[in-house]
Amino acid sequence: MDLRLKIWRQKDASSQGSFETYPMEDVSPEMSFLEMLDALNKKLVEQGKEPVAFDHDCREGICGSCGMYINGHPHGPVPAVTTCLLSMRYFRDGETIWIEPWRARAFPVIRDLIVDRSAFDKIQTAGGFISVNTGGAPEANSIPVPKKDSDNAFDASICIGCGACVAACKNSSAMLFVSAKISQFALLPQGRIEAKERVRAMVEKMDELGFGSCSNTGACEAECPKQIRLTNIARLNREYYKAF
Ligand code: SF4
Ligand code: FES
Repeated sequence: MDLRLKIWRQKDASSQGSFETYPMEDVSPEMSFLEMLDALNKKLVEQGKEPVAFDHDCREGICGSCGMYINGHPHGPVPAVTTCLLSMRYFRDGETIWIEPWRARAFPVIRDLIVDRSAFDKIQTAGGFISVNTGGAPEANSIPVPKKDSDNAFDASICIGCGACVAACKNSSAMLFVSAKISQFALLPQGRIEAKERVRAMVEKMDELGFGSCSNTGACEAECPKQIRLTNIARLNREYYKAF
């Protein structure tokens, strides 16, 4: 396939960025999107030009670092797929592909397609843990948990902290992320002990860091690569009201 890439280039958070055009020939449909960017960077380095900076780590859809906007969608146009698992077979020969970083005040651009998502770490460290000392691990079956609750807690726990929900939201809200982190504890007996302190601390930190309020449009759920559900946001709101 021959493609035309329109990629956002930006030196650092204080510089003005702009789109640069890069033609790419002979792209294999078997390549992943990041492999295609690797091939572009190899070409740029051979030409003595600055490679495109993009974030990645696991390339298996589990670390959450590879987020970028592709043709107007966080992680690209294929639902429930991270950028690293996006295959080039979803693109057409001759297509122009627009590639941009997340755009949110709380996620400043570090360089090109890389943004600083440490705001998520700050929310997580504000309360997204269990600090009660329970001694040795008890026999799992000695704490009965309804199957529905354990399934919902598990579904919430697969949030990878990628930030696509923030990028998709017109208010740059982090509610889907925070609600997933709250839900994974709130649904289990082990998480109930510190539930009030946890939800107050995480919501306060989220507001302090400049994330907006929930827009109620559901854009976050539609674009989340792990299909975290809006029902988690309803649970977050209930937990928050109960905490006062
Ligand atoms: S809720 Fe979804 S989109 Fe948001 S950070 Fe978690 S995995 Fe990413
Ligand atoms: S590189 Fe880890 S989720 Fe994509």
